[in-house]
Amino acid sequence: MSVTVIVIGVLALTAVAVIVLLLANAARGRRAVQDVPPALRPGYSDDELERRVIERYMGWGLVLTIFFAVFLPAYWLREPSRLTGQTQAAFVANFERGEELFVENCAMCHGANAEGGGAPSTYDPDDSWPAPNLTTIVKRYEDSPVTDIRDYLETTIERGRPGTPMPAWGAQYGGPMTDQQMSDITDWILANQKAEVIEADPAANKSGEELYQQNCVRCHGRELEGFIGPSLVGVFERHNEQTVLGILRNGIFLANGVSMPPWQEAYMYEDARYTDAALERIVDYLKSQQPDTLPEDAGQYRTPYGDGGPAGAGGGTDQTAPEEDPDDPGAAASEPATDA
Ligand code: HEC
Ligand code: HEC
Repeated sequence: MSVTVIVIGVLALTAVAVIVLLLANAARGRRAVQDVPPALRPGYSDDELERRVIERYMGWGLVLTIFFAVFLPAYWLREPSRLTGQTQAAFVANFERGEELFVENCAMCHGANAEGGGAPSTYDPDDSWPAPNLTTIVKRYEDSPVTDIRDYLETTIERGRPGTPMPAWGAQYGGPMTDQQMSDITDWILANQKAEVIEADPAANKSGEELYQQNCVRCHGRELEGFIGPSLVGVFERHNEQTVLGILRNGIFLANGVSMPPWQEAYMYEDARYTDAALERIVDYLKSQQPDTLPEDAGQYRTPYGDGGPAGAGGGTDQTAPEEDPDDPGAAASEPATDA
């Protein structure tokens, strides 16, 4: 900064000096010819024109050339660091706004330091729905199909998670925030990431039933009847055990934001990084809970919204079909995904 000030100061002084000199010169010339009308004043002689006058013009030309030769590179050299400075300042400002916005709008559910909390369940106010720790989100989704975590954050914040307590914040989705505000919060979240996440297996002492009741009921229903996620009655008609286990490990990411959470590779809830053993207990529980007589359409993916369902219903079928029974690779292709 100080270098620029000095350079500008020197240049300004030079400019002032030049102007003063020019004015003084002009005043002297004016006095000499004051009484003669301009058109009658004697012109320069050839001698003067070719020496004094031309040399004077060339002299000024040289001064200006030197001025630009010094000033422009000096300016140009400073520009990148000035821009970086500006960008950093802008980022710090965004970051600070993001922190304020987080404290005002998100802290009550996600915790004061974004380290996770809970919200009353949409369906039972006495039940708390876990709100994920956002300081580990980069690490948590590291090995997941989410490749652009910034985009994932912004989309989730903008649209919320329909069917969960996570509200939509984007103005386009009926929320109160502008794109800039959501981007500021995202900056703040991304700048507050921790590299380490809890590796313990919190499910070690829990039965499949306990794990199901604790984690799955809110989306798949107490009786596996389906809710936000599809009914799990007859799920083994659609997938074999390995596939169900795989779904539990990795989740299923849906474009609309309500996803089947991954319970292992990249987990949504910090206290739910389950081992295969724990997930197998859940699968056993799912098997033990299947009724003797299954509904006729148990082989088809069903949304919990009833017949016809939302536009996504057919899409769900398509999505799960390729994963169908690996022992019989032809099955998925030969069964057209119609449920009309
Ligand atoms: C009323 C409580 C509540 C508020 C307020 C809230 N959230 Fe959430 N948020 C949740 C819950 C609950 C979930 C988990 C939803 C689920 O189970 O899929 C969630 C999920 C998320 C996720 C996805 C996390 C992941 O691991 O996939 C992000 C990101 C998020 N919230 C950001 C925010 C931000 C930013 C704000 C403030 C603008 C905010 N939330 C405000 C309750 C809330
Ligand atoms: C936040 C809500 C949510 C939670 C919590 C959740 N799921 Fe899901 N689950 C879904 C959604 C949504 C789908 C449908 C994904 C799709 O379209 O294929 C799904 C799909 C599934 C499927 C595949 C069903 C099929 O026919 O393709 C299984 C199996 C499953 N979930 C089991 C579980 C178990 C077990 C738990 C608890 C450990 C659980 N889910 C927790 C939302 C959830």
